[in-house]
Amino acid sequence: MSANGLGFTLSDEHKMIQKAARDFAEKEIKPIAAEFDESGDFPMETIKKMGEMGFMGIEVPEEYGGAGMDTLSYVLALEEICKADASHGTIMSVNNSLFNYAFLNYGTEEQKQKYMVPVAKGEKIGAYSLTEPMSGSDAGTMLSRAVREGDEYIINGRKSWVTGGPVADYILLYTMTEPEKKHRGVTAFIIDAEQPGFIRAKKEPKMGIRASATSELVFEDYRCPVENRLGEEGEGFKLAMTVLDAGRIGVASQALGIAEAAYEASVAYAKERESFGKKIGQFQGVGFQLADMKTRIEASRLLIYQSAFAKERYKDTGERYTLEAAMAKLFASETANFCANAAVQIHGGMGYSKELPIEKYYRDAKITEIYEGTSEILRMVISRLETGLR
Ligand code: CAA
Repeated sequence: MSANGLGFTLSDEHKMIQKAARDFAEKEIKPIAAEFDESGDFPMETIKKMGEMGFMGIEVPEEYGGAGMDTLSYVLALEEICKADASHGTIMSVNNSLFNYAFLNYGTEEQKQKYMVPVAKGEKIGAYSLTEPMSGSDAGTMLSRAVREGDEYIINGRKSWVTGGPVADYILLYTMTEPEKKHRGVTAFIIDAEQPGFIRAKKEPKMGIRASATSELVFEDYRCPVENRLGEEGEGFKLAMTVLDAGRIGVASQALGIAEAAYEASVAYAKERESFGKKIGQFQGVGFQLADMKTRIEASRLLIYQSAFAKERYKDTGERYTLEAAMAKLFASETANFCANAAVQIHGGMGYSKELPIEKYYRDAKITEIYEGTSEILRMVISRLETGLR
C-alpha cells in the first residue's frame, strides 16, 4: 500500500512508477507547460513520449501494448504528471480511463487489437464522446442518432466538450439507436476519424487545461460498420457510466496533483516572503491556511487510494465502485479548488501574475469540479446510493 508520511509503504513497483512519472514530468512537461497553456496547442510530442514510457496504457496488459500495472500505479503516475501540468494529465486520464478501460471491459479481441493497442502505446489518441450541446449532466437525453442499415449504422448529430476532439484518431461515441427507450436506447460505437462524415467542429476557448484541446464533433451520415459497435445495442448508457466510474478516479488524481503543486509552492513562499519583519508563514492567517491545505490533500489521497483498491476489487468480484470513485472525485476536486484559491491569496499579487504558475493552478482546478460528473451530480450519486431514495 502507500504513502507519503501517512505510515503506509509503497511497494517497490509503485515507487518505481511514481519516480518515473515524477522525473518525466520535471524534465519533459514542467518546462513547456506555460507555453502550451498560452497557445492552447495539443502537446503531441510529449504525449507520444508518455506513450513510450507506458503512461498511456498503465492498466492495459503488456500483451496489448500497455504497462500491465494496477490502478494504484495509475493514480500515482497521474498525480505526478498533473503536478507539472494538468492538461497532460487530462489527456492521459481520458486515454487510460475513458478509452482503454472501455475496451478492456467490453471490447472484442479484434477491437482491442485494432484500436486499444495503438492508443495504449501512445501511437494514436483516443477520445470519449458522451456530452451534447443540450445533454450534459442528464446524459440519457441525447439528440444524436444511429440508424442501422444492413451491416452499417448511419450516424448523425453534434457532440460537445470532447477532450482531444481536435486531434483524436479514434472516438468512443455514445448515441441513440432507439430514442423511445431513453437511456436504454443508447449504444456505443468506435469512430475512426479518417472516415467520411466525421467533422471536427468548434474548438472550445477554455479557461484552464488549455493544452488538452477540446472541441465539438459533427457526424453527417457517418457510416459505422456493425463490427465497430462496442457492446450490445442499448448497452451504451451502462457502458458510459461504468467507464465514468474509472474516469472519476482519474480526475480525482488530477485534482490531487494540482492541489499538491499549489500547496508546495505556498509552503516555499510562506518560508521565503517577509512582511512586517517576519516570514509570512509565521502569521497564523497563512499558517492555518497551509494546515487546512495539507489536511485536505492527505484526506483526498486516502479517498483516492481507497477508490483505486475498490476498482481492483471490481476486476475479481464485479462489485461496482461508483460510491468510492464519486467520493474521491468530489472531495479531491473541491480540495484542488480550495488549495489553488489559498495559493493565489498567499502569493498575493504574484499569485495573480502569469510570471508564476499559481494562477494556472487556479484556472486548471476549476474543471475538476465540472467534467466527468459535476460536484452536484456526485452528491446526488452518493446520496442516492446511501439512502436508496431517488
Ligand atoms: N455503473 C453501471 N451502471 C450504472 C451506473 C454506474 N456507475 N450508474 C447508473 N447505471 C445504470 C443504472 O443501474 C440504470 O440501469 P437500468 O436501466 O438497468 O435501471 C441506468 O444506468 C440509469 O441509471 P439512473 O436511473 O441512475 O440514471 P439517471 O438518468 O437518473 O442519472 C446520472 C444518472 C448519475 C445523473 C448520470 O446521467 C451521470 O452520471 N451524469 C453525468 C454525466 C457525466 O459525468 N458527463 C460528463 C462526461 S465527461 C466529458 O464528456 C468530457 C470529456 O471528454 C472527459
